[in-house]
Amino acid sequence: MRVVIQENYDKMSKWAAQYIAAKINAHKEDRPFVLGLPTGSSPIGVYNELAKMNQAGEVSFANVVTFNMDEYLGLPREHDQSYWYFMHYYFFDKLVDMKPENINILNGMTDDPEGECARYEEKMASYGGIDLFMGGIGVDGHLAFNEPYTSLTSRTGVRILTTDTRIVNSRFFDNDPEKVPAKALSVGIGTVMDSKEVLVLINGHNKARAMAAVVEGNVSQKWTCSAIQMHNGAIIACDEAACGELMVDTYKYFLDIEKDERL
Ligand code: GLP
Repeated sequence: MRVVIQENYDKMSKWAAQYIAAKINAHKEDRPFVLGLPTGSSPIGVYNELAKMNQAGEVSFANVVTFNMDEYLGLPREHDQSYWYFMHYYFFDKLVDMKPENINILNGMTDDPEGECARYEEKMASYGGIDLFMGGIGVDGHLAFNEPYTSLTSRTGVRILTTDTRIVNSRFFDNDPEKVPAKALSVGIGTVMDSKEVLVLINGHNKARAMAAVVEGNVSQKWTCSAIQMHNGAIIACDEAACGELMVDTYKYFLDIEKDERL
């Protein structure tokens, strides 16, 4: 696993955006580049950077297909807290050449959640799988909506949100955890692990405990993101604040081995 430590959120975002753009630009196959995407505050800086690069002609999304990680169950697209709305507002609407038909987001209003999730998995497979899955994590180490004790081999399916997550996410729902949907559709940890590369963004002091668990702890369903220790192409891009709970030698080790790497 690589851990790329950047001084602050802006630098972490720029690094991750440049990494993703370089991967898209290097993709020379006939089939599209397939990109997995998260929501949340962590990736907003990456989305801003990628949109700027796209507008400046530095990276094209014409041959990119995206699959989002998750969606609240029961929120329509038009709801300003749906992940469909988030993705269009913060990213897709800013891109000059993203094809709407190449955007895949789980339908939170489906009356057949299991079928919707099975079709999502099939569609990913039809493109030959995900090339790069970007993710963020919750303070409890959840990846997508795979809360603690979700199977590390889980596939796309319905997830029940923990009270903790509903409290954390209530900042977007009038600070009322009851207004946060109780369930979501989410790709599984197994789904993310099938991706050729995984890039997880971790920033801020409030993620420091999860960061230490994911980097230094055991692979454990308690911190579902820790599964990426078993991935052969996993990178964590983080800021200094997220490193607060790492052991000093862990922190120094990653700074040392990454010091000559540009991307
Ligand atoms: C939600 C999303 C996750 C995201 C997490 C962290 O729970 N389902 O995919 O990683 O929030 O969000 P933030 O980046 O705002 O801390």
